[in-house]
Amino acid sequence: MGNLTALVTARTSLGIEEKDYHKLAIMVSGEAHYSVERAAKIMGIKSENIIKVPVDDKCSIRSEFLEDIYQRAVSEGKIVFCVIGCACTTSVGAYDDLEAIADFAEKHQLWFHVDGAHGGAVIFSDKYRHLLQGIERSDSLILDFHKMMLVPPLSTAIIYNAGNRKVNEFSPKAAYLWQDQLSEEWYNSAKHTFECTKPITVLHTYAIMRLYGDDIYRQNVDTLYDLGKEFAEMVRRTKNMELALEPCSNIVCFRYAAAGIECDEVNRRIAEELLKDGSYYVVSTEVKGKYYLRITLMNPLTDRKCLERLIMKVQETAENLTLI
Ligand SMILES: Cc1ncc(COP(=O)(O)O)c(C=O)c1O
Repeated sequence: MGNLTALVTARTSLGIEEKDYHKLAIMVSGEAHYSVERAAKIMGIKSENIIKVPVDDKCSIRSEFLEDIYQRAVSEGKIVFCVIGCACTTSVGAYDDLEAIADFAEKHQLWFHVDGAHGGAVIFSDKYRHLLQGIERSDSLILDFHKMMLVPPLSTAIIYNAGNRKVNEFSPKAAYLWQDQLSEEWYNSAKHTFECTKPITVLHTYAIMRLYGDDIYRQNVDTLYDLGKEFAEMVRRTKNMELALEPCSNIVCFRYAAAGIECDEVNRRIAEELLKDGSYYVVSTEVKGKYYLRITLMNPLTDRKCLERLIMKVQETAENLTLI
């Protein structure tokens, strides 16, 4: 809903005329969360105009391709109005180079949106804030408080850079709700969101910040992102285990990879066995065409021992499976 709101806002704020809606296109990393594509489709943007930019070895957008891809789209008569950066991707937790995307967006006067649903919270961390370099140049960003900010779902912020350009979200008429159609009325959330009736979802976050200050978010991000690196180190040091890539967040993708085994199939079965066992919740993903186990470290009370036991469990499960 956050990504959809941002895209609708971009379209309205840029003053795109309805007669041109069928030509509209967006550019986004091939690794972006599916909600971006879904939002674009809801808006009536054609599949071929949801332009997926290839990613590099780290699963970050190849920003050096942006210009050529844009020029090709323009030559085909498409109107690219928005480019989206991932901070970070859901599958492997990769951050796009937001500075490079901002340069590109600025050059062509595109709306620059950042999907920071998961990884935007590193803004609170001195250690990891650099991953968001360039985010201050975005026109809009979303941040899920229910991911890295310790509150139950659902609670998402959409933040506009009002200093950048005039933001115009929806312009509905509802005389029974507001007197003045044109004024900002920040307190009138129905002017800014899809829903008319809406709970005050930011209340949990507000309460946490009033009680503990935002240092609690620094601690949470530092703890969980450090733990991701620690887990990666454990995987690297363990025989017959490999990482999909070096994690830069608390999302880590790894797998059992002994010589001579059918890795994808064995790891698929490991995931099933772990799920049946119930002591760990390990999901899976595909990285560069290969099947990987995937963990997202969300609980700050998870410790090193717990992760060591997970590695042992994966190994034991794998050995039992490959012996059969
Ligand atoms: C990068 C990103 N964007 C958007 C979403 C969708 O968020 P929600 O699950 O709060 O709808 C997710 C969820 O995993 C995500 O990781």
